[in-house]
This record gives sequence, structure tokens and C-alpha cells, in this order.
Amino acid sequence: MASIKSDRRRFLKYLAASPLAALPAAGWQTSFPGPPLTSPKDAFSVMDFEEVARRNLPTAHFGYMASGVDDDLTLRANREGFQHIELRARRLIDVSKVDTKVNLFGTTWDFPIFICPTGAQKMFNPDAELATARAAKAKGALQIVSTVTSNSVEDVAKARGGPVWYQLYVPAKWENAEHIVKRVEAAGCPVLAVTVDLLAGRNTETFKRARRADTRMCSDCHDGEPGSNLAARPMFQGLDLKDFVMNSPSTTWDFIDRVKKTTKMKVVIKGLESHEDATAALQHGVDGIIVSNHGGRSIESGRATIESLPEVVAAVNGRIPVLVDGGFRRGTDVIKALALGATAVGIGRPYLWGLSAFGQAGVERVLEIMSGELELAMRQCGKTSLAKIDKSTIVSKL
Ligand SMILES: Cc1cc2nc3c(=O)[nH]c(=O)nc-3n(C[C@H](O)[C@H](O)[C@H](O)COP(=O)(O)O)c2cc1C
Repeated sequence: MASIKSDRRRFLKYLAASPLAALPAAGWQTSFPGPPLTSPKDAFSVMDFEEVARRNLPTAHFGYMASGVDDDLTLRANREGFQHIELRARRLIDVSKVDTKVNLFGTTWDFPIFICPTGAQKMFNPDAELATARAAKAKGALQIVSTVTSNSVEDVAKARGGPVWYQLYVPAKWENAEHIVKRVEAAGCPVLAVTVDLLAGRNTETFKRARRADTRMCSDCHDGEPGSNLAARPMFQGLDLKDFVMNSPSTTWDFIDRVKKTTKMKVVIKGLESHEDATAALQHGVDGIIVSNHGGRSIESGRATIESLPEVVAAVNGRIPVLVDGGFRRGTDVIKALALGATAVGIGRPYLWGLSAFGQAGVERVLEIMSGELELAMRQCGKTSLAKIDKSTIVSKL
């Protein structure tokens, strides 16, 4: 009879030869590779969609989505930030019913997870923002449409079956900004989110490497080089495109003042991370803030947004809603942000993985998984509504 010692040795030898041993180190996570998903229903977590997206997309398109800037340090920091916050379990509270509804500027949404603006979704699925809008409609989620959307805001709102928010990149010429602002207001958008985190420029190195690795011609799947045909963009029609510049580094708070004077829409600033900027936003009459580093795509060596959130929340002191995005992949991530004072949490890549993998059905499943995980985390923490989620829900080691 073989000894326990030799049995163990044989088992270790077997493990070393098994494909499990060849897995890339996934940190503390245990990973059991299976066949790629064939249906969104088979996904356990939103991460399950990423591999399908990688297989479905041209390398350049996947690289554009996945990349951060420089060494992608901020991109990674966004995820790592959540590790410094733990949840406090509470027991023997009736958590059979959990209400995740949230109100933003008078509209109630089913859960506090919203769809961030991401540009040119045709690169991920032929139905693009329309598929995302139909998923948002099916799941009762808020959708923000990008300046560089592949479909017009009017068409997206129609597919959503209700108002969507619109995100504005700052064009250097005021007349162009005014034209877009008036158009989206006429389209029924209640909120304009002005993105300010790309004004300083950026170095999307990983994307550039992915593009170089992809030997196909850009014109095989879209209209020439990225950004080469501005006039074809649905939201750029009617603009003065001569010497067109977007995200000019000379932009200041004067721009926000002008936008506020031009529109009755609520004006939210996307891309703030500091208490100084939050205070300035209040002084300029801004209606809300999205704490964001563009999903690790603007500043390098930046902080995780979950780490920036508390100082913005403190400066705002409940006067306007503070939203946040960047690296949210689990319901437990969402509850941590809510505990730190966020009103709602945005997702970018997770729904793009879903969209690239299975179109509308993929985005729906991503929303379903994350909102379901949030409900589970709320039950574990003994919280039956969002209003009950406070600092006592977490232990923060930040
Ligand atoms: C492929 C891609 C395109 C994006 N395009 C835009 C955009 O057009 N406007 C904008 O304000 N933010 C844009 N973002 C940033 C997102 O709105 C959001 O801040 C970020 O994706 C959140 O981080 P996450 O991807 O880790 O969830 C983009 C992000 C990605 C990944």
C-alpha cells in the first residue's frame, strides 16, 4: 500500500503536469477555465464576457477598449483600490426584500448602476448604442451617450424609449459646443455630462501597440483611420469642422459658466477627482459630479477613483449628487462606493464586453449580474435600501 507521503508526491506531480498549473497568476482568485461562453445566460460574473469580447473583436478594437495610458497604472489602481475596503456583515435583520431604487434629478432608476458614455460602439457591435439602449430599457438603467456616439442621440433616445443623458467633450470653438448643447436639449436629454479629464492630453500606449499588432486596414471595418472622417459622426453634423479641436487644454471654468447660461439641462461634470475641483464646481453652479479618471485613460500614476471619492464627497457635503466610475466589476465594489457617499456608480468596459460578446443580450446580462450582486451584498450587510448604506457598512483602510 502506498504511503500518504508518496500519494501526496504523485498528486503534486499530477498537478504540475495539469493545464491548471499553466494558468497565468490571477492574484488571489481561483480560476477554472472552461469553454468560452456560448450564451449570456452562462455567465457567472461580468468578467466572463471579456474573453468572448477578446475573441470576437479585431485586436485594434479590443486594444482600444482595454487600454489605459502609459503603463496602465491608473487602470490597475482602479481595481486594486477596492481591496483596501472591506464589508461589515450584519446578521438577523429581515433582508428578504431589498430596494435598490435610486432617484437622480427627479427620475427613479431601478438600481444605482449606470451605463457610462463610451465612444463609437459600432466598433463593438453593428447595433452599437441602439443595442445598449434597448438593454438599458429592458433593465431600467440610466444610459449616458457619448459625444462620439455611432448613432445620433435622437435615435438612441428612441431605442431607449425615454430620455438619455448626453456626454459632451469640449470643442475648442464655442459655436460648436452651443450647437450640440441646443441639439441634445431639443432631443429631450435632461442632463448634460461635460467630460473634463481629457483636456490635458494623454498617451494611449497599449492601444497604439494593439493597433500596430493588427495588420488589417482600418477601412476594412470602418471609415478610414480613427478620427479621420469627423463629418460622418452623427453628432458632428452642422458643426464648423475647419481646424476642429476637441478637448482644448486652454479650457477653463468659463466654459462651464457659458454652458450653464445656455441650457436648462442639469449640468454634471465628469472627470473630477479632488476636493478643490469639487468646491469650484459648486461655486460654478454645477448640478452633479462624476468622480472619474476615464477608466484609467487620462492621468497616469493616478489614484483609484474609489480613493478619490471621499474627498469629493466631503467637499460637496450632500449639496449635489456625486457619482463615480472606474473599475467597478462586482456588486461588492458598488456597495463600497455607496457607503463612501456616492449616489450611483458607472460601468464602462463591463457592458462593452457584454455588447461585444452578445449585443443587447450581453449588456442586459451584465446589468442583471451586477445589480443582482449588489442586492446580495446589501443583504449580507443587513441593508434593505440604499439610504441605509452608510460608513458603518465598510471598514476602510485607505
Ligand atoms: C472604450 C472606451 C471608450 C470611452 N469613451 C468615452 C467617451 O466617449 N466619453 C467619456 O466621457 N468617457 C469615455 N470613456 C470613459 C467611460 O465613460 C468611463 O469613465 C470608464 O469606462 C469607467 O471605467 P471602467 O471602464 O473601468 O468601468 C470611455 C471608456 C472606454 C473603455
